[in-house]
Amino acid sequence: METINIAILGLGTVGQGVAIMLLKYEEFLERQLGCKIVLKRILEKDWQKELDFDKGDIPLSDNWQDVLTDPDIQIVIETMGGIEPAKTFIREALQSGKNVVTANKDLLALHGQELFGIAEEAGTDLYFEASVGGAIPILCALRQNLISDPIREVMGIVNGTTNYILSRMTDQGDDFSSVLADAQKLGFAEANPASDVEGLDAGRKAAILSTLAFQSQVTLDDVYIEGITGITREDILFADQMDLCIKLVALCRETDGKIEVRVHPALLPKAHPLSSVKEAYNAVFVKADRLGEVMLYGRGAGRFPTASAILGDVAEIVRNIRFGSCGSLTRVYQREKAILPIEDVETRFFLRLLLTDRPGVLATVARILGRYQVSLDTVNQIDLIGGNAELIFVTHLVREGDLRKALEEIRGLEITKEVITVLRVEGVA
Ligand code: NDP
Ligand code: HSE
Repeated sequence: METINIAILGLGTVGQGVAIMLLKYEEFLERQLGCKIVLKRILEKDWQKELDFDKGDIPLSDNWQDVLTDPDIQIVIETMGGIEPAKTFIREALQSGKNVVTANKDLLALHGQELFGIAEEAGTDLYFEASVGGAIPILCALRQNLISDPIREVMGIVNGTTNYILSRMTDQGDDFSSVLADAQKLGFAEANPASDVEGLDAGRKAAILSTLAFQSQVTLDDVYIEGITGITREDILFADQMDLCIKLVALCRETDGKIEVRVHPALLPKAHPLSSVKEAYNAVFVKADRLGEVMLYGRGAGRFPTASAILGDVAEIVRNIRFGSCGSLTRVYQREKAILPIEDVETRFFLRLLLTDRPGVLATVARILGRYQVSLDTVNQIDLIGGNAELIFVTHLVREGDLRKALEEIRGLEITKEVITVLRVEGVA
């Protein structure tokens, strides 16, 4: 029986998950793929590291050349993370005729175009399902199953760590930092968890999703990003009273040939399908003209969900090797459509303003909003002790640039104590 040899680069949370699954399901995979998949080498910086599995006599080295120059290795699985040396290793592997599977969204969201170009030139494969949505096969769906109908919108919860934090803050009243520490222990968080909570990780995934959904290269720099560090328990409680919940969403939309791509906390109606996505689960909601709405849901982070996506890619490459084909993405990674500046994006907003409580303040604020075309859907007033009042507004759809100008003027008023919260509202029909 044919044998395909594999190397893993980086034995952390995900790399060890891949090794454990490869060793445990060796026969199961062999039966399905009709060939043997053998873990032949492992590259790990700390080669004396204590492992969660018995690696037997598989050589473990800290020297990339050991993998690169091994002619038997046909598939390299990169689970080290970061830009360098991952980029160099992937480039060299592809150029030397090895196929690569990576979970590295940091790298693809910046250098996807270059790496897919190298893969195409070399006639090798670069697969990356695990880079977005963990175990959810969303990239495969965008690359294959959903290609017959132009996609209009992809909205997703694509960061497990922040969804875990917001779920625990909402459902159990836990505080931000203790929940983040739990997410780190559970292996969901990035090596630098600021990437998660400041929205960068979801931003990288939004860049990848937009590229595939709209067939035009989108990089991290194109994505408007806000994280969840400013979200308070009070915001969550006010949202709850209005039958809304707060989620970190990645929103990718194509309108009139322009791509809108942003990641930020958003208020969603509790009845929206994404509102029921809790803990470290992810979900991606896709809208297209004829196929309508599709939602994919599953574990978005963690050792085995991520490892399973990687092994799905390995299976695809094994088939490609056996049938002499390749899954090129070079064409998709060309910049063909413009990015819509955030100022021109239209959204509804939820605003909390702390104002001096005296007659006429609501009229003053409403007048300024009106002057900038910000039309209001609802207004609530909460009287506070100490002569201040909190006003909570929900707007109709407004151009973001107009709202920003109105808020700038409101901030400068003598009656304004604080603009407490500005959050976008999504998913309202
Ligand atoms: P970890 O930090 O747990 O693992 C990375 C491993 O790679 C560590 O063992 C590290 O060694 C090793 N490593 C780093 N640099 C080198 C190098 N130059 N040579 C050899 N080994 C090296 O990260 P994760 O497993 O969590 O993530 C890996 C990748 O998967 C990242 O790209 C991440 O974004 C992505 N990902 C992670 C998910 C998750 O749920 N954790 C989900 C989806 C994607 P050392 O510890 O000694 O530095
Ligand atoms: N840190 C990421 C998350 C890992 O929390 O979603 C999965 O990409």
